[in-house]
Amino acid sequence: MKIAIDGPAGAGKSTIAKLLAKKLGILYLDTGAMYRAVGLKAIENGVDVTDETAVKKMLDSTTVDVKSEEGVQHVYLDGKDVTGKIREHRVSKAASDISAVPCVRYKMVDLQREIAARCDTVLDGRDIGTFVLPNAEYKIFLTASVAERARRRYEELKAKGEECTLESVASDIEKRDYNDSHRALAPLRKADDAVEIDTTDLSIEEVADKITALIGGRI
Ligand code: DC
Repeated sequence: MKIAIDGPAGAGKSTIAKLLAKKLGILYLDTGAMYRAVGLKAIENGVDVTDETAVKKMLDSTTVDVKSEEGVQHVYLDGKDVTGKIREHRVSKAASDISAVPCVRYKMVDLQREIAARCDTVLDGRDIGTFVLPNAEYKIFLTASVAERARRRYEELKAKGEECTLESVASDIEKRDYNDSHRALAPLRKADDAVEIDTTDLSIEEVADKITALIGGRI
């Protein structure tokens, strides 16, 4: 069984996907973490994320691995655990920009398909239902208002001690939405057969209940 959960930043994808995977006892794969790892490498090496040739050169000597350790996804970049580092705010834009470079997407999508082929998996991302696994049994598209998504992201960043304002987080989210939904290859888009859930006024439990009902009480 494959469950695809797509949607823009801050819609609640990872919280819900983690919860579902735990309840179902299946693997959770956070695909955004992979693009974040590549984005982090570009930042650390001063590579221009819009320069396809430079990105390709960097990518040829880059390995990204994901491992589930005690139910938590760890991301390894060239063998180093970067699980915490990829969540820094500065990495979000680099991840969005670099994910638009075709060679990056093809390499990450191959890896995602390879991992998902091994076992039952819940994947979250932007293009799971449309591009990575178009035949997934269940497709969910989560949305929420920009104000609510910015509020959630702001609280998360604050809790981690990052300096930011609600306005700057909202503006970054809007720019990332635009970037992610306007790239040429596999843009953020609801699959025609995905069920859309607006999480703006819903609690995590309410969203989980809706998805549970959709999956037919398997949870
Ligand atoms: O889910 P996230 O915010 O951690 O993802 C970071 C960026 O990675 C996001 O802005 C766009 C990109 N991404 C993507 O293009 N395709 C995916 N399946 C997942 C993420």
